Amino acid sequence: MKYDFDQVCDRKNTNCSKWDSVAAIFGRDDVIPMWVADMDFPTAKPIVEAVRRRAEHEFYGYTDAGETVIASVVERMKRKFNWDIDPEWVVFTPGVVPAISCAVKSLTHPGDEVILQQPVYYPFFPAVTLNGCHIVNNALKLVNGRYEMDLGDLERRFHPRVGMRAIPNRVKAMVLCNPHNPVGRLWNKEEVTQMGEVVLRHGAVVISDEIHCELLFKGYKHTPFASISEEFEQSCILCMAPSKTFNLAGLSASSIIIPNKALRDGFENARASMLPRPNLFGLTALEAAYREGDEWLEQLLGYLQGNLEYTIDYFERRVPKIKVIRPEGTYLVWLDCRQLNMDGMTLRAFMREKARVGLDDGFIFGPGGEGFERMNIACPRAILEEAFGRIEAAVNTL
Ligand SMILES: Cc1ncc(COP(=O)(O)O)c(C=O)c1O
Repeated sequence: MKYDFDQVCDRKNTNCSKWDSVAAIFGRDDVIPMWVADMDFPTAKPIVEAVRRRAEHEFYGYTDAGETVIASVVERMKRKFNWDIDPEWVVFTPGVVPAISCAVKSLTHPGDEVILQQPVYYPFFPAVTLNGCHIVNNALKLVNGRYEMDLGDLERRFHPRVGMRAIPNRVKAMVLCNPHNPVGRLWNKEEVTQMGEVVLRHGAVVISDEIHCELLFKGYKHTPFASISEEFEQSCILCMAPSKTFNLAGLSASSIIIPNKALRDGFENARASMLPRPNLFGLTALEAAYREGDEWLEQLLGYLQGNLEYTIDYFERRVPKIKVIRPEGTYLVWLDCRQLNMDGMTLRAFMREKARVGLDDGFIFGPGGEGFERMNIACPRAILEEAFGRIEAAVNTL
């Protein structure tokens, strides 16, 4: 069937985080919300029908992921990434962020260190620190408008020093974000391989958040971290979910793939005490999405590509002081606003009060985020037109 992504839907008064918390978050209710990673498109019809069918069976008790749900994950990994996984490797959680927290808990002791590549998705920070661990930043580098990993710096993170004195390395894990939120890079196989080799050589585990890996722009192909080699497979906790791809975040179902039995047992122990089971409608939706969602997804990706080209073209022609960092994946666009010469709080106030758009401020993603804003472009084109017009008018007043 043909889906109409141009249609503007009213999501207000549905307890929708994106639209119903605008006043609470941005301090006024006339702001266009373009912050949280949630799309203003209804999901695929086969998913809606599967959830409806399940709702009609009026028992909503404790539910496990049955064989067909697990098989849908196994088959999807094979079909999308030519990656063979064993059904036993799959553990379900209500979300990826809590899974990362469980992974950190299972791999560390308080006082240990976890590497992040900042600026990065900010809920990673408490997933590390609330487990009593320290964040070590392997900062990304912006080179000619494109972000890169700094592998020399990554190596040095495993050789900590205080002054002239070498001290023991306490790095137990690194969280890889691929595609990377917010900078939009799809780390390619070569980059991921080089990075993984450094981390594994030092005995740490890679927690690979690949939640956005099916949201790629034209010409990009994703390689799951654990699919690269047997060694990588054995040192990885890999987080997948249909929630970003099919806009199902409210249904709470993610699949965490852990090939190494000892790592999986550790994770399961942490999970059992920290997390509820995944939601029964979430599991129903996950299976329907993975088995029957591709027709919708293909059309979505075409629409997002159009939105991205429109965004890049608009800013280049009409608001050249704001540079769009072209994303390779995700529907999140990282805007370089440094030419506006505003500190983080002034830029925040400018976007909220003057432009009346609700963005995620760059500085909340950690060091390297100052002077940037993250904008969600997964909405009907008409909403982008209105938002960009507001930003242009606000910049023209400067
Ligand atoms: C990189 C990344 N990981 C995880 C999440 C959220 O995962 P969940 O809602 O399953 O906890 C998001 C949501 O935006 C994200 O961008």
